[in-house]
Amino acid sequence: MTKKDPIRVAVTGAAGNIGYALLFRIASGQMFGPDQPVALNLIEIEPGMAALKGVTMELDDCAFPLVEEIVQTSDLSVGFKDADWALLVGSVPRKAGMERADLLGINGKIFVGQGKAINDNAKKSCRVLVVGNPCNTNCLIAMKSAPNIPNEQFFAMTRLDENRAKSQLAEKAGVKVKDVSELCVWGNHSPTMFPDFYNARINRQKATDVITDDAWLKDTFVPTVGKRGAAIIKARGASSAASAANAVVDTVKDLLTPTRGGFHSVCVISKGEYGVQEGIITSMPIRVDGIGNWRVMEGVKLTDYAKEKIAASNAELVEEREVAFKQLGLSI
Ligand code: NAD
Ligand code: LMR
Repeated sequence: MTKKDPIRVAVTGAAGNIGYALLFRIASGQMFGPDQPVALNLIEIEPGMAALKGVTMELDDCAFPLVEEIVQTSDLSVGFKDADWALLVGSVPRKAGMERADLLGINGKIFVGQGKAINDNAKKSCRVLVVGNPCNTNCLIAMKSAPNIPNEQFFAMTRLDENRAKSQLAEKAGVKVKDVSELCVWGNHSPTMFPDFYNARINRQKATDVITDDAWLKDTFVPTVGKRGAAIIKARGASSAASAANAVVDTVKDLLTPTRGGFHSVCVISKGEYGVQEGIITSMPIRVDGIGNWRVMEGVKLTDYAKEKIAASNAELVEEREVAFKQLGLSI
């Protein structure tokens, strides 16, 4: 068998909590497959470089056979050089009592510089997944700052929310989490997100035929999923890290694999599907075809309640865009 060229993966915030949970999974082959070599471009800000050295020493000590090169840098032009994937994690997490949108003023500007550096240094085919919060609007900022990279190559993460929603439904229905499918999280990665229980399936049955408690679905399930990040921060004293890294692995893997049945929740650029405002990065049901192109799944039937929830979440994204673009001098 001919040897595959390595996939070059740039990861920002590589010495942070998510970085620490993520790198070892990429390096072991869980993201790109057990026979796919990888090169890791690990990016940190100056104060994080000492810790990054320690993380790299641990990567070395794992002797992962798939790792061909590890670059450690605080220089974005080096970090994004020839990247096939850019996983934008590095940024400040929120503390208890904050909403993710409160981070816009702190984190938004990071994504201008990173977008430009990706534009100038990464491969034109580079795919970008934004994790740093508020991830939808940060992704839009990076996309606007990288005009040479097609908009369709920018993604933000709501897979953690999808996984959380599946886990909540499985617990309520008394089934295994693998028995829950077709669960799309729509909108913003914020408490306004809408985990669409109407179209979800439990053991192939409509979830609403299995869980008939409409009040629980609307008044407990939806807010529990939307506020799960805050609940983790309260319980752990730090924002989710291992589950977030797991969702990064799931997202990338599923963007590279033809979708069999169902769909996955990913935030992508809106072209007006389902009446969503054009030009925002919002979570929708995504399918990937046999040659690796994604598209928004068509024909999902939305109830009036779902439409109202989705519209409210997307209106929040339009507002975030307005605030952020004004701050950063970007134009729509
Ligand atoms: P952390 O504070 O543990 O680590 C962040 C790391 O990023 C630090 O090492 C820091 O030095 C580095 N960093 C900061 N600014 C940087 C920059 N400009 N360039 C490169 N590196 C930079 O935080 P964490 O727990 O790893 O979380 C990271 C981000 O991910 C936060 O914004 C958090 O809110 C977000 N998050 C998103 C999701 C999601 O589902 N979308 C889930 C969990 C966390
Ligand atoms: C999460 O959903 O766990 C992350 O976005 C972190 C946070 O601030 O909630």
